[in-house]
Amino acid sequence: MMEEKKILEALGFRRDWTYEIIAATYSGGRPHAAAMGICTRDLSSITLEVYKTAQTCENILSTRCFTVNFTKDVFLFYESVYEKEGLKYGKAKNVHAPCLKDAEAFIELKVIDATDLGDRMGFAGEIISFAKKEEVIHLLNRADALALECLIAASKIPHVSGREKEFLLEEIRYISRTVSKVAPGSAAEKAVLKTCSGMDQPCPCSRPSTRA
Ligand SMILES: Cc1cc2nc3c(=O)[nH]c(=O)nc-3n(C[C@H](O)[C@H](O)[C@H](O)COP(=O)(O)O)c2cc1C
Repeated sequence: MMEEKKILEALGFRRDWTYEIIAATYSGGRPHAAAMGICTRDLSSITLEVYKTAQTCENILSTRCFTVNFTKDVFLFYESVYEKEGLKYGKAKNVHAPCLKDAEAFIELKVIDATDLGDRMGFAGEIISFAKKEEVIHLLNRADALALECLIAASKIPHVSGREKEFLLEEIRYISRTVSKVAPGSAAEKAVLKTCSGMDQPCPCSRPSTRA
């Protein structure tokens, strides 16, 4: 068993990067799950921002506990948004929350801070324990896939014009903003920024790089 404080480091978390997970909570005693993005600022606690209108927000406010479930199965993410009734659950051992049976691993957390962010609530969770079912645990970060999309879009631009070109430039703008948000300082961010600056166009990036 890994020491709780070191779990995020051992799993390969990077500070300020966003990872896609499935958060599981109890909703009036019934297990509930939803896809969410999580982040760590200090490699010892986890933060997430949840829309106030989401059931998960109400559940976390009421139970002050949740689990963070890791999977690389995109269909499980689909089910956690649109076919929740197909999800299978177990019980967390140390907090009042369910876990996903099909997850590779899960972290059990207790809420230590809740902040009103307008349309969302920001929650910080203290890591209580960690359990794994698979040897290899995948952290899902969107930056590499987005950087590839950026390269594809940028390399098409010399061959197209008009609305298609505008569409690709808009896509690159979106990717540039998103990659810097979900993986600051990453190779993916560097690739996107270099792609943008090398384009035979006004750079579509919304802001210049401050990183090497
Ligand atoms: C990969 C992924 C990440 C998501 N991240 C968040 C997030 O960080 N915060 C949020 O409020 N919703 C996020 N969503 C949207 C919620 O999963 C979605 O609104 C869900 O229906 C909420 O379910 P609930 O109302 O049962 O809690 C994400 C969706 C996906 C597919």
